[in-house]
Amino acid sequence: MEDISSYVQQHKERFIEELIELLKIPSVSADPAFSQDVLNTADAVKESLLKAGCDHAEICETPGYPIVYAEKTINPDLPTVLVYGHYDVQPPDPLDLWESGPFDPVIKKTAVHPEGAIFARGACDDKGQMYMHVKALEYMVRNHVLPCNVKFMIEGEEEVGSESLGWFIERNQEKLKNDVILISDTGMISNEQPSITTGLRGLSYVEVEVTGPNRDLHSGLYGGAVANPINILTKMIASLHDENNHITIPGFYDKVENISAEERAEMAKAPFSLEKYKNTLDIDDVYGEQGYTTNERNSIRPTLDVNGIWGGYTGEGAKTVIPSKAFAKISMRLVPDQEWTEITELFKKHFESIAPKGVKVLVKPHHGGQAYVTPIDNIGYQAASKAYNDTFGILPIPQRSGGSIPIISLFEKKLHSKTILMGFGLNTDAIHSPNEHFGLFNYLKGIETIPLFYKYFTTLYLAEQGA
Ligand code: BES
Ligand code: MN
Ligand code: MN
Repeated sequence: MEDISSYVQQHKERFIEELIELLKIPSVSADPAFSQDVLNTADAVKESLLKAGCDHAEICETPGYPIVYAEKTINPDLPTVLVYGHYDVQPPDPLDLWESGPFDPVIKKTAVHPEGAIFARGACDDKGQMYMHVKALEYMVRNHVLPCNVKFMIEGEEEVGSESLGWFIERNQEKLKNDVILISDTGMISNEQPSITTGLRGLSYVEVEVTGPNRDLHSGLYGGAVANPINILTKMIASLHDENNHITIPGFYDKVENISAEERAEMAKAPFSLEKYKNTLDIDDVYGEQGYTTNERNSIRPTLDVNGIWGGYTGEGAKTVIPSKAFAKISMRLVPDQEWTEITELFKKHFESIAPKGVKVLVKPHHGGQAYVTPIDNIGYQAASKAYNDTFGILPIPQRSGGSIPIISLFEKKLHSKTILMGFGLNTDAIHSPNEHFGLFNYLKGIETIPLFYKYFTTLYLAEQGA
């Protein structure tokens, strides 16, 4: 038997090559123009799972994009790990800000990744991180060290709200039975100080439409005499935060969990440099809710942000016009114990109530989901912690993240198991942004760390059963 680190050393060129092939397929779930590519990616993932040693792999049709399901059962008395990931990616735009094509993967060195990083849409979120699990399985199967059963559930709609996954879970609870859910779709503090994500924020995503006059108007003939929907929309949006950057929607904070001073002090121990943070973003100061630190603002506090705003004339030159309509897309990141459907309702009610006479307001809810917190006193967390400790030579820090994987709370509700977030990305990897990348160090370290999770989890599980 070969140990995992020498196996990775021996096969790393191939591991990188295989990931590059997967990254070349533009699996953009948001844009129907890419639908054939999304389907081709599902096939490629299925094939890779069979090749890595699964007994069985299938493409499961859903009302939307298919889910790739695969499994390897070695002994029904042993525990089962369910790996979740996604093969879809975010749209690559704005294209002109990419230094190389988003689906033309290249390896380049960066200050944070001196060993090199793969640049491509999906490199880190989530094809690269998902594929670490496929290669970790390959190692365990080929070397006969897979210590337990494993199932894979890789979806193609995570970046657009995981609608079909809810449908799939509802219908396949028995098939998906497991003892722990393992996901690599988050980040860690740095390559020197790994961390395990113990919390994710929830989400409520809405679109708003403000309508003024029934047609675009000459801004000279009508300007000043009718409500301009863009003027009104921006005013309404501005009023959603007060002078301390608290959100003004009545009831918005009612269910926000109170975090004790002790817990906040514990969180503040994680290494963080505000200077570096500002430097990498080229900003002279941070901005946010009064009374909270930067790391608190982006993890344990809820937010409201405009993600896009449009209306009127935005082409070349000038056109004098008062538009008939103005639009915005707004995301609210939520924390325990806010209910996302309730927050969507509160937003709608408030937004409609602040519209002045002379305009009509329409609030269209999109998707959403609940926040999630993993306790650290369970064997899943402990197994992950031991695994990182072995490969990084330092204990990982538990840390709550600001991102969302809204489907996780449904996993807990429907499949009754805890989710462990073993992420290997870095905040600077530019996910959802031009020039997304994933460090080669991170990719290979992930492949090395995952089999150790399986080993420790199985040992701890059997000990708990025996006790
Ligand atoms: N992988 C991300 C979530 C993430 C990234 C969590 C980094 C923590 C650290 C996921 O693919 C994602 O982008 N989620 C969306 C929500 C979804 C409903 C579109 C998000 O957080 O915006
Ligand atoms: Mn992701
Ligand atoms: Mn994403």
